[in-house]
Order: sequence, then C-alpha cells, then structure tokens
Amino acid sequence: MQRALLSIVLVGCLGLALVPPATAQSAPSGAAAFAHVRHLAGTIGPRVAGTAGERQAAEYLAAQLRQYGYPVEFHSFQFPFFEARSVQVQVLGATPRAVAAQALLLTAPTPPAGIEADLVTVGLGRPEDYEGKQVSGAIVLAERGVITFREKAANAAARGAAAVIVYNNQPGVVAGTLQQRSEIPAVTITQDDGRHLLEAVQRGAVRLRVMVDAVHETRTTMNVVATKRGIARPEDIVVVGGHYDSVPGSPGANDNASGTAAVLEAARALAAIPTPRTVQFVLFAAEELGLYGSAAFVAEHRQGVVAMVNLDMVGWGERLMVGNGGRDDAIVELALQAAQEAGIQVRRFRASASDHTSFERAGIPALFLHRGVDPDYHRPTDVPANVDPRHLEEAARLTVAIVRELTRIRSARPGGGRQADEAARYIQRSWPG
Ligand code: BES
Ligand code: ZN
Repeated sequence: MQRALLSIVLVGCLGLALVPPATAQSAPSGAAAFAHVRHLAGTIGPRVAGTAGERQAAEYLAAQLRQYGYPVEFHSFQFPFFEARSVQVQVLGATPRAVAAQALLLTAPTPPAGIEADLVTVGLGRPEDYEGKQVSGAIVLAERGVITFREKAANAAARGAAAVIVYNNQPGVVAGTLQQRSEIPAVTITQDDGRHLLEAVQRGAVRLRVMVDAVHETRTTMNVVATKRGIARPEDIVVVGGHYDSVPGSPGANDNASGTAAVLEAARALAAIPTPRTVQFVLFAAEELGLYGSAAFVAEHRQGVVAMVNLDMVGWGERLMVGNGGRDDAIVELALQAAQEAGIQVRRFRASASDHTSFERAGIPALFLHRGVDPDYHRPTDVPANVDPRHLEEAARLTVAIVRELTRIRSARPGGGRQADEAARYIQRSWPG
C-alpha cells in the first residue's frame, strides 16, 4: 500500500518534472482545425439533432479525441425532436397558385389535408395590431420584425387563428425558430410574396390552404465528453465545449463546426500539458433546438464543474469576442487578461443564445468565445469556405490560454495588475484552495 502510494507520488513528481513546454508541435493549428470543419460541414453536412448526420459527427469527434489520448464517453439524453417534412401554401381560386414557404422550427403541424381559410393581415402581429380584427378560424399574415416569431404565433393562436404566415421584412427567405412548439402552424414566406398577398387582400377575399407536415417526438442523442484528469485537484472540473449539431438544411460550417474544431484543436494541444484541475472537453448535441445538450450536461454532470468555456461561431468575422450572458464579470476579466498575455486582440461583448447559458443558469461562471454573425448564418450557404483557418487557430490558442488560467491553483499573482488580482481573489473565493 505504502509502496503504491510512493509510486503514485513518484510518478506524480516525474509527471511534473517532465511537463513539456507548449511546443510548436502541440500548439493549435489552423490547418488541422479547418480539416475538422471540412469533415463535419463538407463530408458529413447538416448535423440535425436526432438524425444520422449528428450521430456520424459524434463518432468522428470521439475518434479524434481518443487519438489525442483521452478517454471518451457518450452522455446520452432525450430531447423533443422536431422535423418539418414538407410545407405548402396555396392561394386558392379559379387557378390555384403555390407560394414557396418555410417552416419555422418547432411549428405545429396541420391535419394531413391542410387548413383552408380566409387570409387576414395583422401588421406586425402585436396585440394592438389585432384591434377591430376578426381572426377566429382565419390564416393570419404578419410582417417579420419588432417581436419574435414565437410572440407572433402566440398572439395569433390566442385570438383563435388557425395558422400564421410571417413574411420577411427584407429580400429573400427567412429561417427562424419558435423556441418552443407553437399552438398553431407557423411558416414564413418572402417579402415579395407577402406584399403580393397584402395587395390581393386589399382587392378582395383571399382564400389559402396551408399544409405543414412536421414530426414532434422524443429522441435520444448524445454529448461527446473527453476527460483530462487534473494532477493536483482532479475533483475540480473546467468544461470546454461547443455544439456540434446544425439547423436543418445548413452544413453549419461556422455554426458550429468552427467552434467544435477549435475545441478539438485545443484538446489536442492540451494533451501535452498537465493541468492542476481536470478539463472536460464536451461537444454538445441538440443546441439548435433549445440548448438541450448543455442543459442535460448541467442537470446530470455539473458536480465539480467550476467554470465553462463555450465556443460558438468562431470562424468568420472581424475580431474574436469574449463575454457571457452577464452573470459573471470576473471570469471575463480573467479571459481578457489571458488574451492579452497570449497577444490576442479581443473585444468584450455580452450574449446568451448558446450553451454557456445553461451553465450560467446553474450559477457556474461561464465564458462565450464568438466572432459575430455571418451572412450565411443558418443557411445552406454556411459551407467550409465561409470559415477562415486563421480564426480557428486564434480561437483554439485563446482557449488553451484561458484553460491554463482556469485550471491553475492560485496564490497571489505578482504583477498581475488590479483587475487580475480581483479575478484571482474571486477564483480563490469560489474555488477554495
Ligand atoms: N450559434 C447560435 C448562437 C448565436 C447566434 C450567438 C448569433 C450569438 C449570435 C446558436 O446556434 C443559435 O442559433 N441559437 C439560437 C437560440 C438557441 C437558444 C436555440 C438562436 O440564436 O436563434
Ligand atoms: Zn450555434
């Protein structure tokens, strides 16, 4: 027993003595990260939660992480799967005419034969827009903007409408989410088609048929989790993650093969660097339908998690941004300091709408690394060419720098400046040691 203990201590000391420096070999590579983006978004393509594409991606990620030497687990969980199979909008009359329409994510389906009703226009679809309008049993037409799709659908449903059509407030089609299952079918059409329908209604009654074939069912998917055990305080865990699923119809290169790839490269680089605390690399499933993967992780595996770093959309845009939803400034200060020391220029920002939010909701200090919203966001054109390998490298480098800070057991930090001191004191407080 004593001998075993001694050898553990010895191995521990040797491990420490043999800590390799962050060499060029173990430094994150933009080219290697980009190869992951090509595989995920190019070869596999859309990775919609609960579909074969997502599962294929999970297996690829696990294989990569195992190659770096980590033990890998799949954490499976259930979530409300959604898929829109087909959407049709028809203007009825002597010569019926089809209008191209898109399902909003999480729309209710129509009966198989569709819904046939008169069209009523309701401006932006706010409560005040319904004054003096009779929409019970009708299909309502609302313009996009000012309030969310979810609110437009809820306002229409509350007044007895049978379905809602939202027309774009700018050229082209629009994809969007209702954030939760709507009570009535909800679809979008283009601005042009919306204007034509508005004009037609002004000339007289317009009768439409709307048909939405959509599946809502419970499915199982999984987060991919690789663990790098800490050498001094293994019970403290820093989670580094990003979602690997995409929206339907989009290869999701920037959203979020980019963040996934940068996490992989950070994991590869960190494999050679012992850390005092444990690091878990977690690639989340089912983010796009409502942060389900990160919520499941927090619900079941939050024990010991002291901080989280989320990478989402880091392959396109002017400058890397660092922030969170606003519940914790100290961890942002620490990240800004790490960026400065690594010579990486970053901008501070505030955003939720991604997986760090699940951790913030549970009171865990979390960071969001993001580079801005590209014009191909959630579109079929979010392909690998949309992503710049240099940005991936920068995101992975910053991740490594931040992880080294977060996994360090702190005493005072001489010369760290006032803000860094505050961050250090804060971390001391929340992670006693
Ligand atoms: N990658 C986006 C998050 C994002 C978009 C962050 C733009 C910052 C700016 C993410 O995959 C996404 O699309 N999220 C949903 C919300 C989520 C709670 C389902 C969104 O923003 O619509
Ligand atoms: Zn995303």
